[in-house]
Amino acid sequence: MTESRAAIRRYTMAERLGHWFAAFVYIYPLLTGLAFYSPHFFWLAVMLGGGPTSRFWHPWVGLLFAASLLWMLGEWGADMRITDADRQWEKAINHYIRNEDDQLPPVGRFNYGQKVFYWVMLFAGTMLLFSGLVLWFPEVLARQAHWLLLLAIFVHVGAALISIGAFIIHVYMGTAMVRGGFTSIVRGEVSPAWAKEHHRLWYDRVTQQAAQTPPKS
Ligand code: HEM
Repeated sequence: MTESRAAIRRYTMAERLGHWFAAFVYIYPLLTGLAFYSPHFFWLAVMLGGGPTSRFWHPWVGLLFAASLLWMLGEWGADMRITDADRQWEKAINHYIRNEDDQLPPVGRFNYGQKVFYWVMLFAGTMLLFSGLVLWFPEVLARQAHWLLLLAIFVHVGAALISIGAFIIHVYMGTAMVRGGFTSIVRGEVSPAWAKEHHRLWYDRVTQQAAQTPPKS
């Protein structure tokens, strides 16, 4: 088969808009949440319109973040399933750490690390949602179930820390580590060489599908 030089579409416009919406509705509650967490970060709330404004919008935008994770599940859920190919990749992770990418087994549209990132975010987002709903109306529970309030604070802070760790790794991998990844989530396209190098099974699938699609007259 002769190799096509045309760029390969990695993300549709809807996927890209959805991703950047998710990034925005994650970062806003992150910054305002840090401001509520410690006086050292309160300047963040000041920059974002003041304490009361931040307190008002923080839970609403948090709800949008939970919704964006659900939307991603609908859009990417099938591609996020952990497969046998991912287990092989995980076993060979030492090659990845040593930068010996040519010795890694081929993977599909997303690699094992990207999938784990998504599932960690979904887990942390779910924990943030339920604990956040409790913390939204503290006066309702303060007298009857004080323990629930304490548990919600613990879960909310724990889940936020997990998500922050995952988020930092995600941004670092997507911008500094994997060249071409950032352009793909902005422009939606990658070169065939990039697709082949980083997501060989996905490359094989999309190029075979393209070969089988009759040209439009
Ligand atoms: C400023 C913040 C962010 C940056 C710079 C960023 C960067 C990127 C990049 C470059 C990709 C494409 C990777 C590839 O196809 O190889 C990507 C994909 C993705 N992003 Fe983000 N992202 C950000 C925020 C978020 C947030 C808050 C979420 C929430 C869950 C998220 C979830 C995802 C998912 C699930 C994918 C697809 C799989 C993956 O690459 O992990 N991103 N992102």
